[in-house]
Amino acid sequence: MREFDESSITDAVVARMAGSRDDRTRDISEALVRHLHAFVRDIRPTPAEWEAAIGFLTATGQKCDDKRQEFILLSDTLGVSTLVDAINNPVSGDVTETTVFGPFYVPPPEFGHGDDIGTAIEGLPMLVSGHVRKAGGAAAACAVVDVWHSDEAGFYDVQQMDKTGGLAGRGRFIADADGAFHFWTRRPAAYPIPTDGPVGDMLAAQGRHPWRPEHIHFKITARGCRPLVTHVFAQGDDYLDSDVVFGVKESLIRPYVAHSGGEAGGRTMTGPWVSLDHAFVLDDKQA
Ligand code: BEZ
Ligand code: FE
Repeated sequence: MREFDESSITDAVVARMAGSRDDRTRDISEALVRHLHAFVRDIRPTPAEWEAAIGFLTATGQKCDDKRQEFILLSDTLGVSTLVDAINNPVSGDVTETTVFGPFYVPPPEFGHGDDIGTAIEGLPMLVSGHVRKAGGAAAACAVVDVWHSDEAGFYDVQQMDKTGGLAGRGRFIADADGAFHFWTRRPAAYPIPTDGPVGDMLAAQGRHPWRPEHIHFKITARGCRPLVTHVFAQGDDYLDSDVVFGVKESLIRPYVAHSGGEAGGRTMTGPWVSLDHAFVLDDKQA
């Protein structure tokens, strides 16, 4: 058959892929074509609208470089990242819940317990402490804890290298024999995801704000455990119910506790500071 119409084109495309050498590739390709064609039948785009859609995807690709990943932002803001995360990391007992990775991770330099990873960024002093254990109960001794967060204006180091002069507000800690770690940094802030690209235009067109609630990212790995990628969000933040990337989970919201003066984390404090303490549980059953 050579000629196709609205009712025959979908099966024709699917049939063309029957010779795929890999079953998974064939299944994914067939589902893609069936869902994409159903979407087009549903919205019935005009040629101008379809051209605009292709222009949007083209602009999304053109906005990407080694520092900017507009397709991750698109996946995040359409809830796809959270859906993929939910499919791959279903809630399991008291294992710490996961959330989106985001586009701002880079492998961090290693620090010692009690070090300050925020010397090159602005903000209120913040003491972060945590314990890592396995779901089975044992401490995750020597767990590798990577952390990263924004400064008080909501910018990551990788967005402002000219200001920070290098990586800042991120570090790697090796948990001790009890699975414990602690470090000093500067309090981050709620921030808007970058809006100077097609995803920003999309959010505006959809009548959405671009904000994420205040959080600190953690990526924790330990031998025999499933890697954990998560955040700890600040209790009371205005954007917890409307995170633009749908990353918030109730179990990941913790108080960022305000203090003034006193002894903490090996320092004598004279002014205001905040602390965060959180216990992380790794999945050691399905590593
Ligand atoms: C982040 O938390 O770093 C982030 C996550 C998704 C999109 C943009 C930023
Ligand atoms: Fe973030």
